[in-house]
Amino acid sequence: MDKLWAGRFKSALNSAADDFNSSIRVDSRMYREDIEGSQAHVRMLASCGIVTEAEADAILRCLGEIRAELDDGRLEIDYACEDIHSFVEKTLTARIGDTGKKLHTARSRNDQVAVDTRLYLRRMADEEKAALLTLVRTLVKLAKENTETILPGYTHLQRAQPISFAQQLLAYANMFLRDLERLADCRVRINRCPLGAAALAGTTYPIDRTLTASLLGFDGICENSVDAVSDRDYIAELAFVNALIAMHVSRLAEEVTLWASYEFRFVELSDEFSTGSSIMPQKKNPDIAELARGKCGRVYGDLHALLTMLKGLPLAYNKDLQEDKEAVFDSVDTVLATLGVLAPMLETMTVRKDEMRKAADGGYINATDCADYLAKKGLPFRDAYKITGALVAYAIDEGKTLAGLSLDEYRTFSPLFEADVYEALDMHTCMSLRSSEGGTAPARVEEQIRKIEEHIHD
Ligand code: ARG
Repeated sequence: MDKLWAGRFKSALNSAADDFNSSIRVDSRMYREDIEGSQAHVRMLASCGIVTEAEADAILRCLGEIRAELDDGRLEIDYACEDIHSFVEKTLTARIGDTGKKLHTARSRNDQVAVDTRLYLRRMADEEKAALLTLVRTLVKLAKENTETILPGYTHLQRAQPISFAQQLLAYANMFLRDLERLADCRVRINRCPLGAAALAGTTYPIDRTLTASLLGFDGICENSVDAVSDRDYIAELAFVNALIAMHVSRLAEEVTLWASYEFRFVELSDEFSTGSSIMPQKKNPDIAELARGKCGRVYGDLHALLTMLKGLPLAYNKDLQEDKEAVFDSVDTVLATLGVLAPMLETMTVRKDEMRKAADGGYINATDCADYLAKKGLPFRDAYKITGALVAYAIDEGKTLAGLSLDEYRTFSPLFEADVYEALDMHTCMSLRSSEGGTAPARVEEQIRKIEEHIHD
């Protein structure tokens, strides 16, 4: 395959080296962006009088045809080409001859690959945004149905205090809202146009970088030509945002996996999102949740690969930078695929309110409220805490819940206990009284839902 750079060489590239050097199998997914970038570039060249309008028209028409044929499969990508940029240019020149060869005036593959990647990742960031919004909407929908559903909240994976299932779900919704913010912020830095930096130094042609940038919908240009072709911060940044998304997903998926176990039984996953075992007929496995948890490692790995590849690279372009795409594409693909199954898995799972309630009733999770009860009757909190500890130990020995103790039993621990203790220790009361801002009381949860809905309306 003739190289774009064949001029100064006497013999062809060794075939193993050619394979090793080639990136077309990875970057061919950016063919639309490559063509879009070229179209804007040639429009700018014509507007600046660097090519004629007739030449630009011919190039634009042919690029349009190439794009349409690639879209519908009439034209197949030739994987013998070094990269997608070479393939598009070769096809263009094969079709319109010398005019096609003018496209690359005042441009290098170094600024070309950077613009392609930015355009592609901008589109991917928008897809991720849509997927995250869907997930947050699903969590909010579930939360709305469960503002009164009592769940033991955990610390140290030990039952701690009664909260609503909604409150737990909204904790995740908040994580994903922060991810949306991070994504939007990262998009600001993606959305800068490197075209016109050429190889590294800029160009002697009288180009108009701002025009190219605005034709492509960028917010502005990359200000320094050396930086424009060397900068991969926006790639590492997206990979980091993805790493946090994947970590949040992994935590939620771990909880779902626990909740779906026979030990918890808080949820039952739908058959659509469960798998069986080839040997154990009774099994209903949460494979999708487990994979969502497991994929996080790859997304971290992609970030690590990128940061390590960039470390110590001298300016400006170095071929190491070609490695950026495989890592960031894997990161984006993995996050999109995971978000794509997570939302419907949550949407179709059955919430077993009865089991959540049973676990809440059985865990002495109203003990803090018992101490508060005594403290509100005048006992210093530390003493109230101690007495309640002894009361819980007694109840455990007796195999009773706090609600199951008689008033006489209570009063052997403190004369401050009165009949109103049962109401005070009722799980629903305990949950509803936690009405500080952001707390688990249903009214506060509804307030949170309203605030989230302001962020996610269409
Ligand atoms: N395939 C290359 C990449 O992804 C395109 C840029 C090539 N530039 C060069 N000077 N070899 O980075």
